[in-house]
Parts: sequence; C-alpha cells; structure tokens
Amino acid sequence: MPVERSVSLIGLGLMGSALARIFVNQGWKTTVWNRSSAKVDTLVAKGALPAASVTECIGASNLVIICLINAQAVHDVLGDADAHSCAGRSLINYTSGTRVQAQQTQEIAMKLSFSAYLHGAVLASPETLGLPQSPIYYAGDEEVFRSIESDFKILGRSVYLGDDLALAPLIGCIMMDAFFGLAVGFLQSTALLRTSRLYSAGGAERFLLEELVPFFSHCQLTTLSDFARQIDNRKYLRGDGNGMPLSLLVQTLDNMSKTHHQYGLCNDLFGPLLNLMRARVAQGGAAEEMSSLIKVIPEPGSRCD
Ligand SMILES: NC(=O)c1ccc[n+]([C@@H]2O[C@H](COP(=O)([O-])OP(=O)(O)OC[C@H]3O[C@@H](n4cnc5c(N)ncnc54)[C@H](OP(=O)(O)O)[C@@H]3O)[C@@H](O)[C@H]2O)c1
Repeated sequence: MPVERSVSLIGLGLMGSALARIFVNQGWKTTVWNRSSAKVDTLVAKGALPAASVTECIGASNLVIICLINAQAVHDVLGDADAHSCAGRSLINYTSGTRVQAQQTQEIAMKLSFSAYLHGAVLASPETLGLPQSPIYYAGDEEVFRSIESDFKILGRSVYLGDDLALAPLIGCIMMDAFFGLAVGFLQSTALLRTSRLYSAGGAERFLLEELVPFFSHCQLTTLSDFARQIDNRKYLRGDGNGMPLSLLVQTLDNMSKTHHQYGLCNDLFGPLLNLMRARVAQGGAAEEMSSLIKVIPEPGSRCD
C-alpha cells in the first residue's frame, strides 16, 4: 500500500489556493484553513479537508505550510495556535518578507514547539507554480528540506540555499530586482509605442512577441553575458574596441528622455539610471561599459565593492 502523504495549509489566497490545488490533485490528504471561509469551500469542493481552526489545521499533519499576505498576518495567525498541536511538526513558510521577519517567524515557531522551520521563496505565479522551470528557494532546517525535496517536485524546482534563513528572502529580492527591471523597460517602451502610429489593436502583445523577445533572446542576452563576465572579473573596459561606453550611453539616455517628453511621456523610470551613468562618468568611467554602474549602486559605507 502506498503511504498517504499529508499536508496542512494555512492561507488560501491566490498562492495558497494554487499550492492546495496541486497537493489535492496529486492525491495528498490536504487539510486547509483560511481566515475567510468562502475560499475553504472552494478547495473542499476539489477534495481538501476543512479545519475549523488554525490549531485543528496544524494538528492534522506533520507538515504545515503557511502562505499569507505578509509576516504580520503570519504572526497574528500563529498567535492563535495551541502549542500542543504544533509539537513535533515542521513549519514551511512561503510568505514573502525580509530576513528580519523570517527570523521572527522562526522564533515564534520554536516557541510554539514546532520541531523545525523552513523558509521558502516562491518565484512563480499561481499559473506557473508546478512547472519544472519555476523555482522555490529554501533556507533553514536542512533535514526537513531533504525529507520533502523529492515529493515537492510537484511544486516546481526546489533549491536549498543553506541553514541561514536570510538567504531565502534575499534571493527573492534578487530575482524580483531582475524582474522589475525588465518589466519597467517593457512598460516604458510599450507606453511610447502606444502613443504612435506604430500601435494598433493587440499591438502590445505582438510587439512583445515579434520584436522584444527576439531582441532580448539574441542581442541583449549576449550583452548581459558580457556584463556578467565584466562584473565577475571586475574589469569594465572591453579591449576589442566593441561595446558601448558610458559616454555614448549618457547621450543615448538623454535622447530617449527628450523623445519620451516629445511624445507626452514622463521619464521618471529612466531618470535615475541616467543619474547613475552621469555619476560614474564624473568618477572617470566614461570609457567603461554600463556594467561599471555596479560600482555606484552601493550605498556609501556598505560592504559591497
Ligand atoms: N500571487 C503571486 O503571484 C505570488 C507569487 C510569489 C509569492 N507570493 C507570495 O505568497 C504570499 C501570499 O500571496 P497571495 O497571492 O496568496 O496573496 P492573496 O491572494 O492576497 O492572499 C492573501 C492571504 O492572506 C490572508 N490574510 C491577509 N491578511 C490576513 C490577516 N490579517 N490574518 C489572516 N489571514 C490574512 C488572506 O485571507 P483572506 O482570504 O481571508 O483575505 C489570504 O489567505 C505573499 O507573501 C506573496 O508575496 C505570491
């Protein structure tokens, strides 16, 4: 007889419900609790078991997942839990937050007598959760991670970063930095496109797929690879006479700023980038590539070099 797998899930927002649906569909005994009951009913209709309280939910499985809007909600909800129900159970927290919040949640979990705490950073949307390309990064108790590693492939690609809890919120922020950078560029270019005769109905999606995706996946990926090597080697000048020096890029950004204004758009998203470029040029970096901006990002007195 195959062993029945069991999980308790606290929080049925967009992400919690997506997690619960995967467990239910994979045949796990899935006990759920949510502050508002309508979302519980939806999951129960799909095969989940309802818990009448947080304590009952925690008591139903050795493995407990919590996924709420923020750390304060997690602390409030755990504050209603009975320590007897938590004893010996492992808590996995998929709620986004900071390293300090992760530490606080672990302390609360230990006071409640959970035996182990694992912090997870989900780098997937509810739609992409479960795809092998979708990463979930973990930090904290390694024994618990190793015990779920194989089974949790149903949620995506599990990556263990170490026992230092801070690493999970950190990688979350690192990955979202990259995402928001791309999203900002896309929004500004599409806003400009939309002001012009180049745009027609459905044009934003066509522009993304036909122009931007090939542009990024060929030309821009090569440029970013060059930047990555330059950063690794701490050498920001290309010796082959190719590339785009900051002196040129300052003018490019300046022209772009004027164009945005001429088409009735603000330049707020790119103004800070132009300021960073000018700062590096003023420090003597005119001949360097854009990768050298990594030197002007650190705050004065920080540990980065
Ligand atoms: N959605 C995504 O694409 C995504 C992607 C990666 C990571 N995440 C992370 O996953 C976590 C949950 O996100 P989500 O998308 O599921 O958010 P959501 O759809 O807004 O759901 C929020 C959840 O938190 C509960 N909640 C809010 N305030 C509460 C309180 N004071 N006490 C008790 N419960 C409370 C809500 O309960 P009610 O239903 O009763 O309001 C609901 O279950 C967040 O940390 C988010 O950053 C989300």
